[in-house]
Amino acid sequence: MTDAKNIDYFTEAGSVDAVNARMAKDADPRLREVMASLVRHLHDFAKDVNLTQEEWGTAIDFLTRTGQMCDGNRQEFILLSDVLGFSMLVDAINNRRPSGATENTVLGPFHVDGAPVRAMGDQISLDGKGESCLFEGRILDLNGNPVAGAKLDVWCDNADGYYDVQQPDIQPKWNNRGVFVTGADGTYAFRGIRPVSYPIPDDGPVGQMLAALGRHPNRPAHMHFIVSAEGYETVITHTFVADDTWLTSDAVFGVKSSLLTKMEPGNSGDTMWKSSFDFVLTASAGD
Ligand code: BEZ
Ligand code: FE
Repeated sequence: MTDAKNIDYFTEAGSVDAVNARMAKDADPRLREVMASLVRHLHDFAKDVNLTQEEWGTAIDFLTRTGQMCDGNRQEFILLSDVLGFSMLVDAINNRRPSGATENTVLGPFHVDGAPVRAMGDQISLDGKGESCLFEGRILDLNGNPVAGAKLDVWCDNADGYYDVQQPDIQPKWNNRGVFVTGADGTYAFRGIRPVSYPIPDDGPVGQMLAALGRHPNRPAHMHFIVSAEGYETVITHTFVADDTWLTSDAVFGVKSSLLTKMEPGNSGDTMWKSSFDFVLTASAGD
């Protein structure tokens, strides 16, 4: 025995110390900090709920099936993190911004790098479905000045509630996606469709967990944006259709009240709706 805590041998009462004492003193300090806390919370959790052997077996089976569901297109662990609110928590911790700056939200699994760069005003909906909508607004700094050369990478589902990558044999490639770059006045405009709500992929273990908990898999209608500009922090966010049914019960907790946009009636024959939103960027650290 080395000390009063008896960390040479495992006991229920001393379980956290028994495990954490095994870490080498010269292991990476941040790794030591993270792992020590993780072990403490994990052991406290098992003690808190008096975890049974059978429940732990169920959890191992669930995590195994979650891993087996993952491939190049499907990331069930990120989906698990999303529905547990963990993705949004890590996002919030890492994107604290001054008041007035556009808030971040979850990236989601459907962003694809390399979408076509389109001219301002262009159409992103290529399948001819849905209610036409003009998206427009400005990219500003915290002082209200326009940001020139800002890149907006946008994507949304089609009128049936699927992203192009979920239906590669049905939808045209790059349907409802595009990249737009602002000019000197910082304004942007593009045409698309009024987004519709849709369920997150729920045919795997995460969907089974939601069902067992009596939770629905739906996300409120939204348009995704990644807004980036040199000298500014990149904003990963969505705008949400303000009157959607699922706003207060989003399956992945992505909604923030500052991101709601009211759909206004469009003012021309080929534009049924208009969605206006100004993005406010913060200078990158060091600028
Ligand atoms: C999405 O909005 O595309 C999304 C976000 C998180 C999980 C699933 C989908
Ligand atoms: Fe989405």
